Amino acid sequence: MRFTGQVAIVTGGAGGIGQASAKLLASQGAKVIVADINPQAGEQVAADIRAEGHEAQFHAVDVSNFERVEALVQFAIETYGQLDIMFNNAGIFGDGTENVIDMPVETYKRTIGINQDGVFYGIKAAAAQMKDKGGVIINTASIYAYIADKNQFPYHASKAAVVGMTKAAALELARYNIRVVAIAPGMIDTGLVDAWRADERVWNTIQKAHMRRQLGTAEQVAQVVAFLASDEASFMNGHAYFVDDGAASFKR
Ligand SMILES: NC(=O)c1ccc[n+]([C@@H]2O[C@H](COP(=O)([O-])OP(=O)(O)OC[C@H]3O[C@@H](n4cnc5c(N)ncnc54)[C@H](O)[C@@H]3O)[C@@H](O)[C@H]2O)c1
Repeated sequence: MRFTGQVAIVTGGAGGIGQASAKLLASQGAKVIVADINPQAGEQVAADIRAEGHEAQFHAVDVSNFERVEALVQFAIETYGQLDIMFNNAGIFGDGTENVIDMPVETYKRTIGINQDGVFYGIKAAAAQMKDKGGVIINTASIYAYIADKNQFPYHASKAAVVGMTKAAALELARYNIRVVAIAPGMIDTGLVDAWRADERVWNTIQKAHMRRQLGTAEQVAQVVAFLASDEASFMNGHAYFVDDGAASFKR
């Protein structure tokens, strides 16, 4: 299988894109650490993977805490002896009320702490383990790193930073044969966008933001994550790759 003998950490592995990616990587042979701040949902994902005959363990983590992220990487080493794939995916979205003037500074800092600092900590802790035998680090950015929406100021800031960190880390870590890439999804039908589902007008607008007028699924994104993690993508490095049905490519 594609990832036989390899070990992967997936942060945000309890929900949406992370859950689908953890399941797909495990089904293709990886031993997976499902890492999340939500222990109930995370334990369940790991149990589901094992029930399918694959290998997974849950580890609780708040990615905005560097010591906890270091402990997560250490857990992977203690449990499975190595780390080959790090998917820095955990993230939060704003509630759509965060205009730059009125938004509390704490709201900004919280989003940056999880979406931006969390990715930095994941890169730093994983690369320290990978530098002797190489590996792949995948970071979840967003089309919102490139196009602006109103009232999501900290989210835009954090996702643009993820793209910048991906480039800088790829350059610095190339000498260790560590590839660093990012994905930039469009709107994906996960818990992250649930709040918008109830309002038909808003939901229609979100759908129409994509060339084929529908949101993506977590499984569609997971397929790209698995490809980027694989040797088939061995010449792909230092970029964010859109997974957005063209959403960032056309005028609305
Ligand atoms: N859904 C979308 O439309 C979309 C679009 C572009 C990018 N993204 C990004 O994709 C990633 C995954 O989002 P999703 O759509 O699967 O959302 P989701 O809410 O379904 O899953 C996110 C997971 O991250 C976990 N999490 C939140 N804060 C955490 C923390 N501090 N430490 C550890 N885990 C934490 C949550 O418990 C949850 O399981 C995020 O980085 C998000 O910004 C999502």
